[in-house]
Amino acid sequence: MSVVRAAVLEPGAAGVVVREVRTPDALAPGQVRVAVRASGVCHSDLHVVDGDWPAEEPLVLGHEGAGVVTETGAGVLDLEVGDHVVLSWFAPCRRCADCAQGRPWTCSRTRSLENRLPDGSVPSTDLDANPVAPFLGLGAFASEVVVGESAVVRVPREVPFEVAALIGCSVATGVGAVVNTAGVRAGQSAVVVGCGGVGLAAVMGLHLVGAGPVIAVDLSDERLATAGRFGAQHLVRGDVEDLPAAVRELTGRGAEFAFECIGRASTIEGLPDLVAPGGAAVLVGMTAYDTTVRLRPFDLADAGKRILGCNYGSSIAQVDFPRLARAHLAGALPLGDLVGRTVALDEIGSALDDLRAARGLRTVVVHD
Ligand SMILES: NC(=O)c1ccc[n+]([C@@H]2O[C@H](COP(=O)([O-])OP(=O)(O)OC[C@H]3O[C@@H](n4cnc5c(N)ncnc54)[C@H](O)[C@@H]3O)[C@@H](O)[C@H]2O)c1
Ligand SMILES: [Zn+2]
Ligand SMILES: [Zn+2]
Repeated sequence: MSVVRAAVLEPGAAGVVVREVRTPDALAPGQVRVAVRASGVCHSDLHVVDGDWPAEEPLVLGHEGAGVVTETGAGVLDLEVGDHVVLSWFAPCRRCADCAQGRPWTCSRTRSLENRLPDGSVPSTDLDANPVAPFLGLGAFASEVVVGESAVVRVPREVPFEVAALIGCSVATGVGAVVNTAGVRAGQSAVVVGCGGVGLAAVMGLHLVGAGPVIAVDLSDERLATAGRFGAQHLVRGDVEDLPAAVRELTGRGAEFAFECIGRASTIEGLPDLVAPGGAAVLVGMTAYDTTVRLRPFDLADAGKRILGCNYGSSIAQVDFPRLARAHLAGALPLGDLVGRTVALDEIGSALDDLRAARGLRTVVVHD
């Protein structure tokens, strides 16, 4: 049994506290113990902290992590102690019809969204033996996690842990939205609304596939400047008077693809107006659980516009994570440029404040 420090969201007013939790002594079959070396701070963590998504029990936050395998349970065949790994926050069952047809991001039997391991368990407890659930089956804001095998993906050792961590959420989601969900091809136009960790990864993905023109939209001049460095040709503030007109001026009839990477009702409602006839609006940002939006169905039907939902960049973790890692090592995806401040776990509060204020790039918690 190890006692490790973790950032825990307490239900009620206590908020996020860094405290000690115990990980289990013995691993159940199919479980893997990972020493977490880096975990990125994603807006999905902030959604639970801010109450957008219900959380009725103590939760170890963090779902964008990477580290080293330190122990494998019975029946774990594909991983070895010492492997460098990226954690996947959507552990698929690998057996249901969705998994069998190559769509693990809609797995019907995953327990990740209930903050459970694939076997339904909560592995860690507080020091009084009360369960402390792992957010999205990971709880990566801790120096050690016990997770299910299908949530652990080996990547080359040469990839720095900070970069590997980002592959586990923002990069898989943003690049995957472009490459997998939308299937953008060279020379197609695209607009990315919201250039945080996920949106900037989408801009990088668009650059990777040779899309153009690429228009980045954000309210932060700092974020826009970064999007420009990552290959966006046009930078537009989200509060311009007429965003659809600005996009039409740059593209003709609108962009062939528009990616919403915020999770805000107003920007989702405005997304189809940025899209050219026959194009697609891709919903990547996650709203609060019960948010509804108003759309103009006549325009969608009349202009043949599609709306695509995007979970985890439509990624197959075992395939896409190593690919993203290799693209990074080959110099095609400079993922190191997405890493912002690195902080100790005790600074999680200020990291969440940075995210709230859209300051800097992706903050990464490093564990020693
Ligand atoms: N679909 C998925 O599987 C998936 C995976 C990861 C994250 N997400 C979601 O994606 C969203 C983005 O996550 P993130 O970590 O990149 O967040 P972030 O906070 O880093 O980025 C959000 C960006 O949106 C910008 N923004 C806010 N309001 C705006 C407006 N009105 N117009 C233009 N820009 C505006 C902010 O300045 C910021 O740069 C979140 O909702 C998160 O939960 C979805
Ligand atoms: Zn995330
Ligand atoms: Zn499944």
